[in-house]
Amino acid sequence: MKTAVYPGSFDPITYGHIDIIDRGSRLFDNVIVAVLNNPSKAPLFNTEERLDMIRKATAELRNVEVDSFSGLLIDYVDQRGANTVLKGLRAVSDFEYELQMALMNRKLNRNVETVFMMTSSRYSFLSSSLVKEVARLGGCVKELVPDYVFERLLEKNK
Ligand code: PNS
Repeated sequence: MKTAVYPGSFDPITYGHIDIIDRGSRLFDNVIVAVLNNPSKAPLFNTEERLDMIRKATAELRNVEVDSFSGLLIDYVDQRGANTVLKGLRAVSDFEYELQMALMNRKLNRNVETVFMMTSSRYSFLSSSLVKEVARLGGCVKELVPDYVFERLLEKNK
């Protein structure tokens, strides 16, 4: 059984993430979307809200599970009996940090591989941070996130 963990902050989930989850779910037997529970990062959406939005986004994908984790990603991957970390790469600018994390994770556990998927070009400019900033400043992010995420962004910015 090939299980991949797709980790991230998902604050909030965007169509860019959903693209990777959807394509990843066709490559692996199971995909666990793992939300980093890190209150010190002061996310806009708390962990429960983020989990809820991801569950809605992945409801139709039978082999996708949504969970949260604290501490080291590599420990969580091991705990879940997975052997792969799935990541999306948007642009060259992502590469350096992702390479560092992949190499550090391999140093910590050489049995876990990091697999990168190229984000679809139509989402290559998309990030949760930019979505939050544009929404906060009154710009329209309707085409970048599912409707229920859009509504919650509106709520937060009231
Ligand atoms: O969506 P993000 O914020 O880019 O995701 C980053 C994430 C959650 C994948 C990364 O910060 C992470 O793995 N954090 C868990 C703590 C950890 O294992 N740190 C060492 C990474 S080499």
